[in-house]
Parts: sequence; structure tokens; C-alpha cells
Amino acid sequence: MRVDVVSIFPEYLAPLGLSLIGKARAAGVLDLAVHDLRGWTHDVHRTVDDTPYGGGPGMVMRPEPWGEALDALAPAADNAPRTGSPADEPPATSWADEPPTRLLVPGPAGVRFTQAMAHELATERHLIFACGRYEGIDQRVLEHAATRMPVTEVSLGDYVLFGGEVAVLVILEAVTRLLPGVLGNAGSLNEESHAHGLLEAPVYTKPPTWRGHDVPQILRSGDHGGIARWRREQGLLRTAARRPDMLAALPPEELDRRDVAALREAGFLVPPEDVAK
Ligand code: ADE
Repeated sequence: MRVDVVSIFPEYLAPLGLSLIGKARAAGVLDLAVHDLRGWTHDVHRTVDDTPYGGGPGMVMRPEPWGEALDALAPAADNAPRTGSPADEPPATSWADEPPTRLLVPGPAGVRFTQAMAHELATERHLIFACGRYEGIDQRVLEHAATRMPVTEVSLGDYVLFGGEVAVLVILEAVTRLLPGVLGNAGSLNEESHAHGLLEAPVYTKPPTWRGHDVPQILRSGDHGGIARWRREQGLLRTAARRPDMLAALPPEELDRRDVAALREAGFLVPPEDVAK
């Protein structure tokens, strides 16, 4: 996968050289470049912002450097929607043969970033991240880009950061670990939190007793069925306590009678219609 990140603080993205992302880059799984937006300015002050039309606090990022950056990183020819097909071909309904470049713009007004979106992004050929600062990027940059490529404004959550750089670190970490060959044990993707709409059970390692706290006996029993059941119930109880929204979103057929019994025993209300037949 190719990834381009554009920012006025490229140094903020330095951690992308470390750890498993760094290894993925070294292994050629991830071809990542970070660009300084000011490289696409032409005035002596390398200006990237100006006051907002309509008034209000703060500054807005000017469209010109962003336009040039996107022209350079996603040339129009790369992403041209298929047009002018001969009459015997199906009508133009999609982008050109290769998956198009996709533009992601982190910001608090975006759609919520989720594990499902991470999986979706992990299948893309080329992502560009446009890191806004100040009050954001002139909306026309996004409008114009959308004539050439899919554009998604994406938010990490219901809070406001100084800019998109930290969001890019988060999103790229979530996406990179899903790329084939990056995780040594791909099985762990199956069991982790959010993989099946539930939070993961707690985990333990040696020693068996530490400062008077024991590892749950079942995990040391060798009873694989019992361990799987215990993990399932712990995941359910955690989800009910911490993320009732996730539990409510679970299709009723995903809960069997033992799940419901465990939830009820722990004091969580499970409506009768949520009990699998
Ligand atoms: N930039 C500023 N706030 C943000 C948020 N909540 N998510 C992603 N990018 C942001």
C-alpha cells in the first residue's frame, strides 16, 4: 500500500519510522512518504493560512498549496473516472481500472473512525492524508478533490485535537497491522477487541501469583473449552459494563442462552427478544 501524508509539521509523523510500522516500511509492505505542505507555497513567508470568510476566530488553510499538493500526489490521470467508453462497453459507473487514490482528511467533523473502517482502508492501493491545522482546510479543496477521488473526512472521536497529525498516527497504526504479513500471528486479529463486536477478555502471563493477585484458575486448567467460555463471558461482561452501545448493536442471534445467563447473573438486563431460540 502506498501512503502519502501532507502536513505543516512533518516532524510530528516521525514515529512512523518506528516499531512495526517502521518494519512494514522496511519490508516494502507499506510505501509511506511524509510531505511538508509548505513545499507547495510560493511566497517568501511560505503562507498556508488566512482569515476565515464570514468572520470568526482562528485561521483557515488556504486552498492553493493543498491543490498543488494533491495534483502532485494524485495526478488527475491516475484517478480519472472512466469516461467516453465505446457504445458496446457498459456505461461509466466507476473509477478507472486500478482502485483510485483515496483522500482522508482527519477532523472532528468527520465520520467516526472504527475497526471496520481500518479493514476497509487496509484494502486500498493508495491513501493520501491531508492534515489540517487551525480551523481546518478551505472546503473547496475537498470539493475539488472529490471530483477526482473518494474523499472521507474522518474523526477519531468526540473531542478536538490541534490538528490531524495524531489522528494519522492512530489510523495508520490501525490499518498497517491489518496489512498481510505485518503481524507475526494473524490469529490474534480474530480474537482482539472489536473483531466480533465485543471487547476482549483480560489477559495474564507469569507469574501465577503477583502481589497477592492470582491468575484466574480456569486459564491454568488446560480445559480449552472452559477457557474459551470464560473468555467469551469476560468479553461480554466487559462490553456490557463499558460499552453498552456495542452490546445493544449485537444481533440477537449472536447471544446464546449461556451468554444471556452470564449477563443476567452479573445484573445486566437482557430483553427477552435478545435471547436466541
Ligand atoms: N483533528 C482535530 N480534531 C480531530 C479529531 N477528533 N479526530 C481527527 N482529527 C482531528
